[in-house]
Amino acid sequence: MANSGSADLVIVANRLPVDRVTNPDGSSGWRRSPGGLVTAVEPVMRANDGIWIGWPGTDEDVEPFHDQGMDLVPIALSELEIEEFYEGFANATLWPLYHDVVAKPEFHREWWDAYVRVNRRFAEQAAKCAAEGATVWVHDYQLQLVPQMLRELRPDLRIGFFLHIPFPPAELFQQLPWRRQLLEGLLGADLVGFQLPGAAQNFVRLVRQRVGHKTHRDLVYLPDGRTVRAAAFPISIDAEGFETLARSEEVEKRATEIRDALGNPSKVFLGVDRLDYTKGIYARLRAFAELIADGELDVEDAVFVQVATPSREEVEQYRILRDEIDRLVGRINGDLGRIGRPAISYLHSSYPREEMAALYRCADVMVVTPYRDGMNLVAKEYVACRFDNRGALVLSEFAGAAEELRQAWLVNPYDINGMKSALLEAGRAEDKDVVRRMKAMRKQVMENDVAAWADSFLAELAAVRPDHGKTVRPVKQL
Ligand code: ADP
Ligand code: G6P
Repeated sequence: MANSGSADLVIVANRLPVDRVTNPDGSSGWRRSPGGLVTAVEPVMRANDGIWIGWPGTDEDVEPFHDQGMDLVPIALSELEIEEFYEGFANATLWPLYHDVVAKPEFHREWWDAYVRVNRRFAEQAAKCAAEGATVWVHDYQLQLVPQMLRELRPDLRIGFFLHIPFPPAELFQQLPWRRQLLEGLLGADLVGFQLPGAAQNFVRLVRQRVGHKTHRDLVYLPDGRTVRAAAFPISIDAEGFETLARSEEVEKRATEIRDALGNPSKVFLGVDRLDYTKGIYARLRAFAELIADGELDVEDAVFVQVATPSREEVEQYRILRDEIDRLVGRINGDLGRIGRPAISYLHSSYPREEMAALYRCADVMVVTPYRDGMNLVAKEYVACRFDNRGALVLSEFAGAAEELRQAWLVNPYDINGMKSALLEAGRAEDKDVVRRMKAMRKQVMENDVAAWADSFLAELAAVRPDHGKTVRPVKQL
């Protein structure tokens, strides 16, 4: 093909795995990008000599570069595109709409126009980089039009799409003025992957109702003779990598240091989230504070460590949330803490993986209570780090991970009393019960890691059109 590139595997995601940052001295550097998408997709890239196309988190033009064994092709977004495409359509329209309308989605036509323009730029860049017959794997809600745009430019490609966040029920999706365009955008892929089977079913039903294509089970038949498959591929983590890290002496030592610094309480509760209104941070901290106020827990003996990395700070809902949580933590510590014993240890920092593993090792109760979450990798990371079979997981029924981690203490995050009971039960559970639950969850996480996820997606993608395209190397083989 005259204008094809050289990569046999192209990952297209809104973010590159590294984010451009300005250091305090004014110089520029790179930092690992936030969120579960990067955690999951990075190991796939390392196993293949592909390239990753994405936004470097800035409006500066950055040349393609090589970072830790990965070829990265940056796409700059202008200030206006950051505002209208990223903060606007992606994070103030689609994000709340796809997460059960936990916050009210905003619909603006100029945001949609920016979404179309930016998606086209990503598609054009992918078309330039992909070799003939290559596999292009497009990721997440920011880029739902890319599959169709790319297919028009390069019909020779094998195109997969994976949605990392929930896909909403038809009743909510229908609110979107551009619902048909988004469905058609996704149908440019050969395989559309979701976290849960229910999401794939929602999608196929919507395609039948709104676009009018014939469907049968998980297949959509297009008028041009192409078949698109929609199926669930629950995402995971590099479970062995986390376990190895957790077993290291340094992490063990650091976990002890953290516990000492907290004053050696008998129970450490832990929450780790991006500061996002879908994560249920406010309600979980209230539940914990009420347990102290009720006398069920004592600040001399129990502490809640909440790590909350600021996220999407220019979006109003996120700013409001940050202020609300800052105020709540101040009030709880002011009312219930004692000198040297805050009820909540609240941190905005972003940590390296070693520090995360040490935190997981030191947490007796891990609290993951989103109102809605595609999967939630933090829950799986906690399980992978608990090779000692200790540690209790309190997990929202509304996180995708709850489908696999059935032995967690499952809670409804809207039910504060239910959460209080679960926190207490998990904190007071007998060793035997904790070990039994953790063993079962560990089996699930260790056997279904991110390599298995990527390999099953790529194998299915190859199977949709077996006669077409090159094969991508399985991640497991490495
Ligand atoms: P989301 O993708 O919505 O942020 P996930 O729980 O699926 O939620 O993924 C979050 C990822 O970000 C995990 O891999 C977790 O380890 C990482 N992470 C979360 N908070 C921090 C932090 N403060 N420092 C470093 N990594 C973090
Ligand atoms: C979630 C989304 C990702 C996103 C990440 C971080 O994991 O599924 O697509 O990259 O959050 O959010 P941000 O807006 O900072 O990229």
